[in-house]
Amino acid sequence: MSSLTPIRFAEYDPQALPEMTGRVAVMVTPDGSMDQAARTANRLSKGAIARLIESDGFRKAKAGDVISLGWPAGMQAEALDVLVLPRKLTPVEARQAGAKLAKGAAGKRLTVMAGSMNKAADLTLGIALRDYGFDDHKTPAEDKSEGEVVIAAKVPSDLEAACGPLLAVAEGVHMTRDLVNEPANVLTTTEFARRIEEMKGIGLEVEVLEEADLEKLGMRTLLSVGQGSDSPSKVAVMQWKGGAGDAAPLALVGKGVVFDTGGISLKPAGGMEEMTMDMGGAGVVAGTMKALALRKAKANVVGLVGLVENMPSGNATRPGDVVKSMKGDTVEIINTDAEGRLVLCDVLWYAQERFKPAGVIDLATLTGAIIIGLGHENAGVFSNDDDLCNAFLKAAHSEDEGAWRMPLGKAYDDQLKSRIADMKNVGGRPAGSITAAQFLQRFIKDGMPWIHLDIAGVASVKTDTDYAPKGATGWGVMALNRLVADRFEAE
Ligand code: BES
Ligand code: MN
Ligand code: ZN
Repeated sequence: MSSLTPIRFAEYDPQALPEMTGRVAVMVTPDGSMDQAARTANRLSKGAIARLIESDGFRKAKAGDVISLGWPAGMQAEALDVLVLPRKLTPVEARQAGAKLAKGAAGKRLTVMAGSMNKAADLTLGIALRDYGFDDHKTPAEDKSEGEVVIAAKVPSDLEAACGPLLAVAEGVHMTRDLVNEPANVLTTTEFARRIEEMKGIGLEVEVLEEADLEKLGMRTLLSVGQGSDSPSKVAVMQWKGGAGDAAPLALVGKGVVFDTGGISLKPAGGMEEMTMDMGGAGVVAGTMKALALRKAKANVVGLVGLVENMPSGNATRPGDVVKSMKGDTVEIINTDAEGRLVLCDVLWYAQERFKPAGVIDLATLTGAIIIGLGHENAGVFSNDDDLCNAFLKAAHSEDEGAWRMPLGKAYDDQLKSRIADMKNVGGRPAGSITAAQFLQRFIKDGMPWIHLDIAGVASVKTDTDYAPKGATGWGVMALNRLVADRFEAE
């Protein structure tokens, strides 16, 4: 597991600057005015910051940039990180600045002279989000020195209290990233369920339904995906009861295909290793439930994930097979690689039957087509409810997570007609992400507010993002947490 560098809140004492080791961050505004710690560091370093402010580089710097001065004179520190921050800044700007500091510190010692800076909590969240690396499977280097992040504030206890719920969310994001980054020989369905069960320790109620239970419930479409694998199919249910006892919960449903070979409709070899992230939807659901439990959200939320592995074998599902869903509708499986919708449709139905939720949001790395449409910048958002959908889009925007609404419509649904069953599992090449969403909508009850998030493009990326190194991003945990706070939490 990746480990967060410990964050400590300390008294703001610029007099202690000469003795500080590691990296030390101080602030100047874009028009070149220094705060108290920056003035002290400037004096100690015989005017290094003043000379920086006069330089061309500083004139070109944008708000939120970090300019590092190595081995400053008069100080023990190995670097002085000069943060260019306007006095009035948005939470997202503060977060991005924090993320830049954490990227530079790379897990080593960092002291941020925050003072009474406005948005210091968001800056701290940015540090926590970017302070991530997935190196469980690398042989550790010899000199593994333990780092620490120190946030020096005028009233450390106030800042620490304000950061509590934000750092809980960062832990949820890190859990999602760990799950998504983990290779499939480690993160089997059984191991995934075990990691979810571990969250009983933070107050979640967890149940794991095994194959015999799923068989009894009639979840044949889900089981048809996992039947070629030696890893048993499972559905894990996580309940967080932080709201009023009788309030209908929000249901979060995730696709947890721990590896997607395509099954008998086998994928080509090139890039197949990426399908270790095909449990990304389930990863976001688990990470969000962790965040809600850690910050003790005053809301009722239930998370359900379908955990399966899509493998070819002698008893794998064949193209052309017809299976019956828990709802009772039959599906002709034209392509065994369109498996995510087969997992989700049973879990969606079960979630609605059992919990009578106030709304349902599903997340899935569902289609390659959404990457063609939106790239890696935005998840595809599909919804039957403008009100819930707009609330989600607003939450995603305020958390700096890209989300773009896509259409639904009857003509797309017609692409799913089957000659021999109630529907087929693919709708052809045109509008592949929309026909996948239409398939899911057939399993949403009339009047049930629903959002489907196709996160195939955003769950894991090949380049660094503002908040994460390359690999899993944890996209969605912050947006969902915000949506719960905005719309489902009792005051
Ligand atoms: N897991 C894939 C979708 C995917 C592709 C996720 C790339 C992340 C990156 C999904 O199960 C799949 O195989 N979808 C097919 C659907 C097709 C057979 C209708 C696809 O997108 O090609
Ligand atoms: Mn597939
Ligand atoms: Zn898949």
